[in-house]
Amino acid sequence: MTSLDRAKDLLKQMTLTEKVGQLVLRAGCNLDEQGVPDSVDLMKQIEEGKVGTIIQLPTDMSETADYMQHYALEHSRLKIPLLINSDMIHGLETIFPVPIASACSFDTSLVEKSAKASAEEANACGIRYTNAPMIDISRDPRWGRIVESPGEDSYLAGEMAKAFVRGFQNEDAYVMSTLKHYAGYGACEGGRDYDVCEMCENTMLNTYLYPFEQGVKAGADSVMTGFNIIENIPVSGNKKYLRDILRDKFGFNGLVISDAGSCFEMISYGYAKDLYDCAVKSLVAGVDIDLGSDVYQFELENAIRDGKVSEELLDEAVLRVLVKKFDLGLFDDPFKRLPKETIFSDEHLKVAEELALECPVLLENNGILPIAKTKKIAFVGEFSLSKDLLGCWQYSQHVDDVKTIVSGFVDDGFDVVGVCEDYDINNAKKICEKADVVIFNIGESSESNGEARSHHDLHVRNDAINCFNALKAAGKNVVTLVVSGRPMILNEFVSSDALVMGWNLGHKMADAIAKLFSGEANFSGKLSATIPACEGQIPVYYAKKKLGRPYVKSNATWRFQARYDDGLTDPAYVFGYGLSYSKFIYGEITLDKETMEKGGQIVASINITNDSDCDGVEVVQLYINDKVSEVVRPEKELKGFKRIFMKAHETKKVDFVITEEKLQYYHFDGKCFADSGEFEVFIGSDSNVENKKLFILR
Ligand code: BGC
Repeated sequence: MTSLDRAKDLLKQMTLTEKVGQLVLRAGCNLDEQGVPDSVDLMKQIEEGKVGTIIQLPTDMSETADYMQHYALEHSRLKIPLLINSDMIHGLETIFPVPIASACSFDTSLVEKSAKASAEEANACGIRYTNAPMIDISRDPRWGRIVESPGEDSYLAGEMAKAFVRGFQNEDAYVMSTLKHYAGYGACEGGRDYDVCEMCENTMLNTYLYPFEQGVKAGADSVMTGFNIIENIPVSGNKKYLRDILRDKFGFNGLVISDAGSCFEMISYGYAKDLYDCAVKSLVAGVDIDLGSDVYQFELENAIRDGKVSEELLDEAVLRVLVKKFDLGLFDDPFKRLPKETIFSDEHLKVAEELALECPVLLENNGILPIAKTKKIAFVGEFSLSKDLLGCWQYSQHVDDVKTIVSGFVDDGFDVVGVCEDYDINNAKKICEKADVVIFNIGESSESNGEARSHHDLHVRNDAINCFNALKAAGKNVVTLVVSGRPMILNEFVSSDALVMGWNLGHKMADAIAKLFSGEANFSGKLSATIPACEGQIPVYYAKKKLGRPYVKSNATWRFQARYDDGLTDPAYVFGYGLSYSKFIYGEITLDKETMEKGGQIVASINITNDSDCDGVEVVQLYINDKVSEVVRPEKELKGFKRIFMKAHETKKVDFVITEEKLQYYHFDGKCFADSGEFEVFIGSDSNVENKKLFILR
């Protein structure tokens, strides 16, 4: 019997209350010292079959998850197992780099491995459903949730979405993944969390929904609605986006879960009258599981009895939940899981270190890096001895098992002569007196980004800037390390002898940074989001749409173009940018033919030479410009990338296959196809690439 057949059989036996119960998600509870749950109310609801999913963000997940699961199986009438759900943005117990950082690796197979490791840990705790990956396109670092996202680019986000889905939904330790937050949540006005998203359907389809479409194609089991509105309708009540686009156009047949409270918030949007109205609108629009609004719990049964929403619609949603439970094997053995030893294992920490090595982005380097271990080094800054390196959105019980940056360098054999934990100028100067190199660390605490952490000021604190200037004026060699979950304004630090965007890299941050700074490892990270030169130019990103009066850098002072008259138009560092200890030289692009027939392909090739004494990895990037299109399109868009390892002085030919699919986009009528005509293909080391060739699609 298929899962669907089994689910249909079960559905026939269910009361209306039990059906609604499958769409209800409740927060889990904790167990006290005697092993007694601290919520009588929750246990009663489970017993009555009124809860389908539990979200658990607790102290000991596996013990409480098991308790509730046993309770459901032993006390509820139909013995339907619970789905145990948890947020797992960059790890459960082993913490990996924050997603904005892991996207800088452009390493989909390693990101997949990290997601698989997270799934193994979740599986060992009984968690079979995660609210990840977050794949909101984020072009505004004022928005604190940029940290959770793969950055500004649709194609990169799409590749990361697929990698996360493959990793979570792996064969050995399958955990259902959730693509979130569908959609446009990252485009909130002014970078203010929960603010309005103003966007036309065409941009939504081509830019913001692209990663979701890719994640759906990869088989993601679930999608979470955002808090925002699209085309003036709250997403949790938006039938066009949830049913017509997500289900009918993209072919999604998994679960739609609402974001916490988003069904209920339709009242404050002035889109629903009361809880009852919210319940009706959410189910009609296509929300299957109500997270945190309680509108299904309190009103859905009434609305169905009143005939305000059909029982068929309810049955469809319930079937979807039951099918997933059967597919997961929960009805057969809900306690089947990997051994606990997998949690925070050496194997997972190894993956965490491999990924942490690939995420930092070298922004400046006058040759001070790598630092020979014979040099004396000193540390200045608030992150020197801090354990706040993991990043936000993590609930690991291993928060103390984090090595500080200083310990990472000491363990790696560096000669550390002093540490100044603050930015007191006199103290810092004194401590750094004997040092050949100062590692100056700046950034944000993990409390400063994430949900509801919008900032209008992205500057580094003033005392840090003053201290940095004083050390530079004293003639010190200063390497600046940025520890942050979002791009910040770094103008005051571009005169650093080296500047490194280090992000929050998780448990292996300190070891990874030490290895990169010593040259035991080489930098290969490339920016997944533009670093602005000032807040006033935000949003700033590379894939700008073509304009009637575009900003032309070579003629930057001409007024009548899209520029700022009073300051910087160019960002500080563009998408895709990042240096290495190797020096990569790009040759000319060659195409195997100049015309592509419909359905055909073109191979674009380029020779790249590592013109240095240092082995290294280059992230080679392919961009495409559709020269004349039916709707206005971006100047160029990333359409491919490859991480290429090259030995010192080696030359390699790198090929990209350009298929017609890479040229397609959603047209005004909502159809997806490629325009005939001219296309430019660019291959280079960042989004400023000018090296290009033309071909024609016939
Ligand atoms: C966040 C979601 C998260 C949910 C459950 C919400 O506040 O927006 O991303 O999955 O909480 O923790």
